[in-house]
Amino acid sequence: MHPSPILYRSHIKALSTRYDTALAAHRFDGVLIGAGLPVPVFRDDQELPYRAEPLFLQWAPLTAHPGSAILYRPGHRPVLLVLEAEDYWYQAAALPSGAWRRQFDIRIVPRRDRIRGHLRTTGRRLALLGDPQQWQGLDLPGTINPPALLTHLDYERAHKTPWEVACIEEATKLALAGHRAVARAFAAGCSEFEMGLVFLAACGQADHELPYPAIVAANRNGATLHYQHRSRRQLPGKTRHSLLLDAGCSHAGYASDITRTHAARRGEFASMIRGLDQAQQRLCARVVPGVAFPDLQLAAHHEIAQLLSDWDLVHLSPEEMVDERVTDAFLPHGLGHLLGLQVHDVGGGLASAGGGELPRPARFPRLRLTRPLAAGMVVTIEPGIYFIDSLLAGLKKKRRLARHVRWRELARLRQFGGIRIEDNVLVTPKGHRNLTREAETPS
Ligand code: GLY
Ligand code: MN
Ligand code: MN
Repeated sequence: MHPSPILYRSHIKALSTRYDTALAAHRFDGVLIGAGLPVPVFRDDQELPYRAEPLFLQWAPLTAHPGSAILYRPGHRPVLLVLEAEDYWYQAAALPSGAWRRQFDIRIVPRRDRIRGHLRTTGRRLALLGDPQQWQGLDLPGTINPPALLTHLDYERAHKTPWEVACIEEATKLALAGHRAVARAFAAGCSEFEMGLVFLAACGQADHELPYPAIVAANRNGATLHYQHRSRRQLPGKTRHSLLLDAGCSHAGYASDITRTHAARRGEFASMIRGLDQAQQRLCARVVPGVAFPDLQLAAHHEIAQLLSDWDLVHLSPEEMVDERVTDAFLPHGLGHLLGLQVHDVGGGLASAGGGELPRPARFPRLRLTRPLAAGMVVTIEPGIYFIDSLLAGLKKKRRLARHVRWRELARLRQFGGIRIEDNVLVTPKGHRNLTREAETPS
């Protein structure tokens, strides 16, 4: 495990304090957090790739130990119950080596039904967190996923410890190696499928280890925001226009989430990418504690409007374009989200640890982050501008606005799909650090 053991030790200390407060507030004596189980395939004897429960991963970097659990009681060392069933069909993953182990009382359990025996000394009020499937048939005493406790933990999870930030930085370095390799593969005329393989090889991660399926979208496919296919068709010479690569890696369960867009050649689209990149950097510069993310979202629409004007695609003032929602046809997604153990990390809409939702603005119903920014949060800043047929068709129907749009130019740009630039930004007490750019161009 890369990031420093000292950071990890302080992380466990901070996490324990956080749990002490949360458990006291909700009147629990302890908590058992399950790592989860793989999901079986219907009427088959196989399982879908396993994903560990994020609440479990926040304590221990065990990404491949389904059925394991952590028992934490305030004032006690956390107990790590590692499931190591005797099995000659499958091999149990080795426990990662390293100083992290010192933070735990580690006990090996040969069967899931042995977990109960380790709870004997626990008080009466135990919370059982994670996918309840794991507890089925075990007759454990406790309350499964008490909503108020989960809300409290979800809210707090937005504040990353230095160890968590270091893990995201590791995940960033890995992903950037993949991005560099894919940029070369694109220039060489590889297919989306081949570029997907190049990304995995350069990062040293398997598909199921990535925090989300990589989006490898050539040409028009960039207009599908979460494009999920991988065409096998190679893209030689003139057939190659653009590539949108939205791909991150994992480290100890923590994600990076990075998008870069490439033009096949110099000229119009390359300069449009530079324009959006500069706009994205201006938006990143506004990341400081206290900023309401919906305000940044609106600022992103103003940036997009200015670009549409600079590129001579819409003949309205940028203010009119935003007010009349012309920009919504070009930027139909949120500017960003919390990032951490999940790529779209939890708690982005919570008003406080006690609960309550900060509603999404009516104008931006897809915005996943409505909380004011605070030091320790890691967010993505990912403006985009796309040429999406269905949205442009909707704009065309609004005759009053449509007559200001240069449709012929837009029709020509469809071949490029779209542009998205996405960085991962840490909010600091006085401003921010752009973790992606720092790793891309180390000083
Ligand atoms: N990769 C998904 C997203 O950018 O939110
Ligand atoms: Mn992304
Ligand atoms: Mn994202």
